[in-house]
Amino acid sequence: MYKPKISIIGAGYVGLPLALEFGKKFQTNSIEISKKRLLLLDNKIDPGGEIKLNEFNKSKFLKFSNSFKSISDSDFIIITIPTPINGVNKPDLRGLRVCIKQISRYIKKNSIIIFESTFFPGLTDEICIPLLKKYSKLNFGKDFYVGYSPERINPGDKKKLININKLVSASHPFALRKVYTLYKQIIKAKVIKVKTIKVAETAKVFENVQRDTNIALANELSMMTKKLNINTLDVINAASTKWNFVKYVPGLVGGHCISIDPYYLTYKSKMAGFDARIINLARKINNGIVNFLIKEIKKIINKKFNSKLKILILGLSYKENVADFRNSKAVEIAKKLKSKYSNITFCDPLMNNSVAKEYDLKLKDIKSIKKKYDLVLLLVPHKIIISKIMNNIEKYTNHNSVIMDIKSSLKLSNVAKRDIWML
Ligand SMILES: NC(=O)c1ccc[n+]([C@@H]2O[C@H](COP(=O)([O-])OP(=O)(O)OC[C@H]3O[C@@H](n4cnc5c(N)ncnc54)[C@H](O)[C@@H]3O)[C@@H](O)[C@H]2O)c1
Repeated sequence: MYKPKISIIGAGYVGLPLALEFGKKFQTNSIEISKKRLLLLDNKIDPGGEIKLNEFNKSKFLKFSNSFKSISDSDFIIITIPTPINGVNKPDLRGLRVCIKQISRYIKKNSIIIFESTFFPGLTDEICIPLLKKYSKLNFGKDFYVGYSPERINPGDKKKLININKLVSASHPFALRKVYTLYKQIIKAKVIKVKTIKVAETAKVFENVQRDTNIALANELSMMTKKLNINTLDVINAASTKWNFVKYVPGLVGGHCISIDPYYLTYKSKMAGFDARIINLARKINNGIVNFLIKEIKKIINKKFNSKLKILILGLSYKENVADFRNSKAVEIAKKLKSKYSNITFCDPLMNNSVAKEYDLKLKDIKSIKKKYDLVLLLVPHKIIISKIMNNIEKYTNHNSVIMDIKSSLKLSNVAKRDIWML
């Protein structure tokens, strides 16, 4: 009977759902170094706030710990740790190097190490495998094998891991068969074998590059149409009636995937002597949207209000309906405005006070918002913000107020009597 033993390193947005799925069927160890996270997980609480208690209860063979010892019993070791960038937008691989060192001393013969973190092309072959060989002292291709299977989970999306097509790749045909069979046990969607690890690594980053570039194009259209005095959304809606037009709306690109992964690809590309111009430009445009917005906000304030106006900022996470504030452009905008205007109310029902403190923001509870505001800045349209505030916007604004809808998310009929600005 097929009963692999699995260790999953990192119990974050990627590692936790994976561990919960494998833990329904197989003996699974979820190894997490953050004590704070571990405490919550031991109490069946998802620190990301997305996974419910019953999912933990279904995962009968899953154990959480901070000890790497269980690896010595594992057939598969799956790495899901962060792959961030440093201050100059280059891959910061320090955590990955440490992790490989930590696991290497416990790897048993014939095991397969699978990387799920987002990598640049060649990272597995050129950095991870040599480090595994060095620290484990085992023979690669004889005593241990390597696989790469990028994660495509989309935070806030109802589509679960098991319903998302999964790419798998490996260092040897034998290992590829094993990696494929492993994921087939949990994935209901397609499991697709990819020819090489490099192809799988590049495919993953390119998926996010494509999204970044398309949003940059929509952002550029928005900046252009503002100058031309044309409504951006009207243009996008009209163009969307063509069969091959793909609808992207302007918006803020933050978080830890789309705003970071492209740098992994451009870094590697540059090392190979190729300047990835479109990818770099898309990054610049999407980063530049913060200053563009600040300028537009100032224009509106100078035209309609004085500096004592009352501003309401709604939504601070990096995307809607997600309690993740890493790299959030909404936080960046909020902090810039805070340094210029004194009368600002910040509200994000998904942000708790300890996180708000980290960002030096004082939050107001959504239920205690009572005043009428001159400027309402809807940065991130969480469902709860739409239902509690935006659907009753007349209560919180007066006839002279302006509403800035950054994600083009409002049904105009609900706010028809107000002055609306859309990105
Ligand atoms: N979050 C997403 O939506 C998403 C989607 C696809 C791919 N990815 C990629 O997956 C990887 C992980 O992302 P994430 O969002 O899950 O990160 P995360 O920060 O949510 O989780 C990573 C976890 O790993 C733990 N960790 C770090 N080093 C460790 C170590 N040496 N041993 C044990 N635990 C360790 C951290 O404490 C953290 O809890 C990144 O490469 C990311 O780009 C993320």
